[in-house]
Amino acid sequence: MEPINSVESVDDPYLLYPELAIATPPTSRIRRLVAYDWANGFVSPFRETPTDVCTSLAEYLRLHSLVSARDSLLDLGCGNGALLFGVVKALGPVATSCSLVGLDLDLTLVEEAAKTATGDAIIRNQRVQLFVGDIVSRNPVSQVHPRLRSNIDGISMVSTTTTVDTLLDDASVILLYLLPEAIGKLLPSLRHQIHLGKLVVSIKWPLTSPDLDLSEFLCTHQDGYLVYRRSIKA
Ligand SMILES: C[S@@+](CC[C@H](N)C(=O)[O-])C[C@H]1O[C@@H](n2cnc3c(N)ncnc32)[C@H](O)[C@@H]1O
Repeated sequence: MEPINSVESVDDPYLLYPELAIATPPTSRIRRLVAYDWANGFVSPFRETPTDVCTSLAEYLRLHSLVSARDSLLDLGCGNGALLFGVVKALGPVATSCSLVGLDLDLTLVEEAAKTATGDAIIRNQRVQLFVGDIVSRNPVSQVHPRLRSNIDGISMVSTTTTVDTLLDDASVILLYLLPEAIGKLLPSLRHQIHLGKLVVSIKWPLTSPDLDLSEFLCTHQDGYLVYRRSIKA
């Protein structure tokens, strides 16, 4: 483990990824500054998908006709919505009728996403559902409702019977930008969803596991993201 001083000087926690993968002591300042709130169930620190990656992903999806108006996009660990909304905005008209679903454990980030959902000229015309909950739990998640579309201060949380599994079942395109360990926890579910014909997009890191074989799926590795789908033969 790096000494705290050198950790503090690093802007990007992912540069420290091997250390982040190791459980950090709860009292450590590293946990607060870099490794995020592991003790409260967070499995990946927040970082926005860069705009150029959203644009490139949207171009890829459009070029290969992988998104249509009927699709429902789900971002597991949506943060402030940078990936979910960024891709949809870059997709343009083809995505204007898509429904957009985001789930994150960090209420503050989901509130930011809700603010965009109500304030952004393009996104506010989309069907958007935002949830607060744990992507690696089977417990129901809470839905975040902006009470007044014009006033983000009025946000309310509503209990639901929705779980991560039902969100996955309802989605047709699943987006994620998570550390490999977090991806590993979701792999069995993701593999099942790809089998069903869903598209899974992982920003930066591949879906890999020593225990699960994903070589049966088509994987396109682009600059900054990977797209998985059932092979034509499957
Ligand atoms: C790298 S960020 C990606 C944010 C967004 N998807 C994007 O690409 O712009 C990872 C996100 O996962 C969220 N996260 C971490 N652990 C989580 C958990 N157990 N359940 C739900 N969200 C979690 C973090 O709060 C953070 O917003």
